[in-house]
Amino acid sequence: MIFFVVSVFLLIAVANAQNGTGETYNNPISSGFGNWSQAYEKARAFVCQLTLTEKVNLTTQTGTGATYGYELGIIPRLGFRGLALDDSPTGVRGTDYSSAYAAGLNLAMSWDRDLMFLQSYGNGAEHKAKGNNAAYAPVVGPLGRAPEGGRIWESYSPDPYLSGVAFGQSIAGMQAGGTIAIGKHFVLYEQEHFRQVREWNDYGILSFNITQPYSANCDDRTLHELYLWPWYDGVYNGMGGVMCSYNQVNNTQSCQNTRLLNDILKGEMGFQGFIVSDDGSQHSGVLSAIAGMDMTILGETSPNGIDGLGISFWGPNLTTSVLNGSVPEWRLDDMATRIMASFFYLGQDENFPELNFAQGYLPTFGYEYPTAKVDYTQVNEHVDVRDAHAQTIRAVGSNSIVLLKNVNETLPLSAPRQMAVIGEDAGPSMYGPNGCSDRGCDNGTLAMGWGSGSTNFPYLVDPLSAIQARALQDRTVVQYVLNNYASATIASVVQQASVCLVFANADSGEGYIEVGGNYGDRNNLTLWLGGDTLIQEVAANCSNTVVVIHAPGPILMEDWIDNPNVTAVLFAGLPGQESGNSLVDVLYGAVSPSGKLPWTIAKNRSDYGTDVLYQPNAPVPQLNFTEGLFIDYRHFDDAGIEPRFEFGFGLSYTSFQYQNLQILALSNNKTTLAMPTTTVNPSICPSQSLNPSDYTFPATISSITDYIYPYIEANTSIYTPQATPTPTINAVAAGAQGGDPALWDVLYRVQLQLNNTGSKAGQEVSQLYLELGNDTPPRQLRGFNKTMVQPGEAQTVTFDLRRRDVSIWDIVSQSWVEVTSLGTDIGVLVGASSRNLPLRGVIPAQGAPYV
Ligand SMILES: *[C@@H]1O[C@H](CO)[C@@H](O)[C@H](O)[C@H]1NC(C)=O
Ligand SMILES: *[C@@H]1O[C@H](CO)[C@@H](O)[C@H](O)[C@H]1NC(C)=O
Ligand SMILES: *[C@@H]1O[C@H](CO)[C@@H](O)[C@H](O)[C@H]1NC(C)=O
Ligand SMILES: *[C@@H]1O[C@H](CO)[C@@H](O)[C@H](O)[C@H]1NC(C)=O
Ligand SMILES: *[C@@H]1O[C@H](CO)[C@@H](O)[C@H](O)[C@H]1NC(C)=O
Ligand SMILES: *[C@@H]1O[C@H](CO)[C@@H](O)[C@H](O)[C@H]1NC(C)=O
Ligand SMILES: *[C@@H]1O[C@H](CO)[C@@H](O)[C@H](O)[C@H]1NC(C)=O
Ligand SMILES: *[C@@H]1O[C@H](CO)[C@@H](O)[C@H](O)[C@H]1NC(C)=O
Ligand SMILES: *[C@@H]1O[C@H](CO)[C@@H](O)[C@H](O)[C@H]1NC(C)=O
Ligand SMILES: *[C@@H]1O[C@H](CO)[C@@H](O)[C@H](O)[C@H]1NC(C)=O
Ligand SMILES: *[C@@H]1O[C@H](CO)[C@@H](O)[C@H](O)[C@H]1NC(C)=O
Ligand SMILES: *[C@@H]1O[C@H](CO)[C@@H](O)[C@H](O)[C@H]1NC(C)=O
Repeated sequence: MIFFVVSVFLLIAVANAQNGTGETYNNPISSGFGNWSQAYEKARAFVCQLTLTEKVNLTTQTGTGATYGYELGIIPRLGFRGLALDDSPTGVRGTDYSSAYAAGLNLAMSWDRDLMFLQSYGNGAEHKAKGNNAAYAPVVGPLGRAPEGGRIWESYSPDPYLSGVAFGQSIAGMQAGGTIAIGKHFVLYEQEHFRQVREWNDYGILSFNITQPYSANCDDRTLHELYLWPWYDGVYNGMGGVMCSYNQVNNTQSCQNTRLLNDILKGEMGFQGFIVSDDGSQHSGVLSAIAGMDMTILGETSPNGIDGLGISFWGPNLTTSVLNGSVPEWRLDDMATRIMASFFYLGQDENFPELNFAQGYLPTFGYEYPTAKVDYTQVNEHVDVRDAHAQTIRAVGSNSIVLLKNVNETLPLSAPRQMAVIGEDAGPSMYGPNGCSDRGCDNGTLAMGWGSGSTNFPYLVDPLSAIQARALQDRTVVQYVLNNYASATIASVVQQASVCLVFANADSGEGYIEVGGNYGDRNNLTLWLGGDTLIQEVAANCSNTVVVIHAPGPILMEDWIDNPNVTAVLFAGLPGQESGNSLVDVLYGAVSPSGKLPWTIAKNRSDYGTDVLYQPNAPVPQLNFTEGLFIDYRHFDDAGIEPRFEFGFGLSYTSFQYQNLQILALSNNKTTLAMPTTTVNPSICPSQSLNPSDYTFPATISSITDYIYPYIEANTSIYTPQATPTPTINAVAAGAQGGDPALWDVLYRVQLQLNNTGSKAGQEVSQLYLELGNDTPPRQLRGFNKTMVQPGEAQTVTFDLRRRDVSIWDIVSQSWVEVTSLGTDIGVLVGASSRNLPLRGVIPAQGAPYV
């Protein structure tokens, strides 16, 4: 059965011309679905009292040369202070007295919905307490197509279901904390190489010569079933903002791609908030405006190769574009309304703190306008916003650690007599935790990747300090060597120890920083700083070697994983400020490990089948996603490749048994959508004066150098626009949040008994996979639950399967279709990992008898 997708307008504009001249760009005007209706009423009322330039102020940030606050929307006439926006998913970027959270990767490794929410709640509360209205977080693009991808630690997992849950929980949490969540990056931004022209052509020794950012080319079905999947969860959870990405999609910039922004995100998915560009991802003024972008970040066009601060594709250019008719007034009204709707949706009109810090600048006093050196004043109040969030960060760290090997109960440790702690990754960096700008180096223990997804550490509990503090309780002798290359010292120290903990890492980050020859994306999947050799040296002299890895993604372990002297292996991800404490919780058994791998650990790099494109294959590098749906375990399962550790794998200090699978069919009734009967009035607000002389620089304010204002120069010629695509209004604003509401109906309930057959209390992540047939991967995750079970006890575990979980995307009807309506029996598999699935059942095709 094919069910109706409300975005009927989809069929109109599907062409993909380079710039779309002659096309129709259908702009969905939101009417404020569901719980957004009040916010929309307030936003409309607010926006409709604004002048043209006041509306432009809401859409255009004031520029990097202008202010530390990233402010926009200052409207003195109404006493509106404007909005502040800042990074990042790991904390409030560029300030002090705020927390350094675990990476998104660790949230995925935890498979714990509550911790996903709680950590994001804390981060949202901190942004708010600093006076920041919106955070560029969380991250679900990259999804993780290439394990080498530099930013995959900021996001979650190449599995769209796990990522969708984590993204949805993170958005709900951050917004409950009071900050607008700006989900990023939309979409198909799967590698750093060639994401921007200047960045990559200016990397001296590489001397690339690309002419445009890479184009990610992906078919419609893969886009929906893999890369868009988690975005539905984001919209469903009320995401207030979206950041469009650096790359092109089908050779059109993401930020001016009407198919992606208007048709899919605002139309099909019913996104109610605003779309903002990334720093340099806007490549046009008019086209981005009518393709659906609502806000421009920073303002400058310079990252695209146009020199000079204080100029913008929007700002004065947007004012001009409205005056000359190339951007309709209703589009500007819609932009401003969407931005203000998010503001009211979060209740930021009441008791929102004043901005009390200067982004990226720590001294107390400074210039309000640093480029112009104007207004020397107090710019930082150093407000401590950390609250008790350290507890959450510690819990995320310990509950995300994945135990990969544990021979004969090596772990948990019980009062070892002598311990050796080996490796640079075990101790502090001699430069301090914030020693390198945006964490762009790998010195000392690694607890965060590099780039704009980073934050300043208020402190970093390194593993050695935490281990020493704990070990002293047992009178354990602790020796350590932090130099990876001190072979002789290491050999002599480890020979004396009853247990040897050896630490190693690998790092990655955003493409504007290069570390040790890695330009954002990792060059390889092996350990850094001689880690593999180090582990082998320790194991050669210590028959009880425990390996601890900190890394942004999968690493290869073949050099040592089968060594009988390697008795335990822990993968700890990038755990943030409480790193050492979280690790000690697991090492000593205060917490039984319960993390599971959010991706596959392969035996060979080539086994993944996908990789970063490191050399341009054309002046506009083309990334064809020819593997379709088959990334990570979907590919290993399909191609019959044996991984080292499969997706979903992770050991515990106790053991579990899966019993009594039951599948219940619930009502297949569809939630129907009350289609709006009124068409949206194209003029959202009363028309403004379109007389240019009303919008020239007012004599009453003095212009600050490099600051972006909305005003046009007195002599600006309001030229007749060249041929551009025709922006039209989507007469019926589409859908509900998260698309057709019937997608979210629960159709089946699956239950089982989970029995703790070991001797320790522990949490287990039960996983449900479906065989959906119809050219889908052999099995796909469609449910998980983390359950605490006491020894000798059993718990009932329940999975709800929604219509979307049992559907595939039909490109002909442009809708989701339940596979049972295509005659497919759905195989239901439940167990402890993607390759350990002891329970099996069937959901029969429609019409088939239920067994
Ligand atoms: C736009 O914002 C700037 C500050 O960023 C302010 O000086 C100016 O008055 C605002 N313009 C309007 C029309 O409100
Ligand atoms: C880059 O490409 C352009 C156009 O193809 C060419 O004119 C220029 O010489 C090239 N520059 C380098 C450094 O290869
Ligand atoms: C990209 O092109 C492919 C192949 O033509 C098509 O299936 C897909 O729908 C296009 N996607 C977008 C977002 O335009
Ligand atoms: C308008 O945008 C163009 C780029 O399209 C840029 O060169 C110009 O400086 C902008 N004007 C202003 C006033 O920012
Ligand atoms: C585990 O312990 C048992 C009993 O002490 C011993 O026989 C066995 O060899 C050990 N296994 C390994 C892999 O060390
Ligand atoms: C710091 O790390 C960088 C690589 O990130 C490395 O090149 C450098 O040698 C390290 N410095 C020290 C003192 O370890
Ligand atoms: C992998 O990359 C790291 C970091 O750049 C480097 O130290 C290591 O030598 C590389 N491994 C191999 C096998 O080339
Ligand atoms: C294991 O460690 C012992 C020393 O404790 C050493 O004699 C032996 O060679 C090691 N085995 C391996 C495979 O490295
Ligand atoms: C990518 O796909 C397009 C369309 O099928 C094809 O023309 C092009 O050659 C492919 N590029 C690469 C590098 O494979
Ligand atoms: C399903 O729909 C039918 C027909 O409208 C109705 O009689 C029935 O009560 C519904 N069942 C559930 C469980 O909502
Ligand atoms: C569209 O692209 C064509 C060819 O690339 C170019 O001539 C034209 O000026 C572009 N139009 C716009 C509005 O950018
Ligand atoms: C759990 O399994 C054990 C061993 O099979 C059994 O003795 C025990 O009764 C089970 N507990 C429950 C609550 O089912």
